[in-house]
Amino acid sequence: MISKIMQDAINEQIKNELYSAYLYLAMSAYFEERNLAGFASWLRVQASEEQEHAMKFYDYLHDRGGQVVLKAIEQPPAEWKTNLEVFEQVLEHEQKVTSLINKLYEQALKENDYPSQIMLQWFINEQVEEEKNASQIIENLKLIDARGTAVLMLDHDLGKRKSE
Ligand code: FEO
Repeated sequence: MISKIMQDAINEQIKNELYSAYLYLAMSAYFEERNLAGFASWLRVQASEEQEHAMKFYDYLHDRGGQVVLKAIEQPPAEWKTNLEVFEQVLEHEQKVTSLINKLYEQALKENDYPSQIMLQWFINEQVEEEKNASQIIENLKLIDARGTAVLMLDHDLGKRKSE
């Protein structure tokens, strides 16, 4: 059976993952309004991946005989100044999530909770990927000229992302 400390920390992380989904859906809506369907689609896929992350923790907690307690989700922002600012915020948010996952792992180590350590390794790898993806889009956006032609090309590329 999972410890109370670990159970509470995982419940907190379910909320954090659902907030990530909410944040990325808000960003997707921002691009949808600006007719950048590729950016909107990329972020919508990202939002649904975050829901899957929440459900991984949810299922894991049940598998370990824990209790899922859903917490209130904060309202995400609705406005950003530039496309670049959106993705800078994605990266910043993912870095924060990485540190939260690392803290969960540290707790699992402290408690000699081996199943949680193994489950969290998937998230540790996933965070490497999440940060890399956001950084790549930021680098691409920084190369874009003021006329916006390249924005449309990047929009086309991002629109190719499919759910895994
Ligand atoms: Fe669930 Fe983007 O980390």
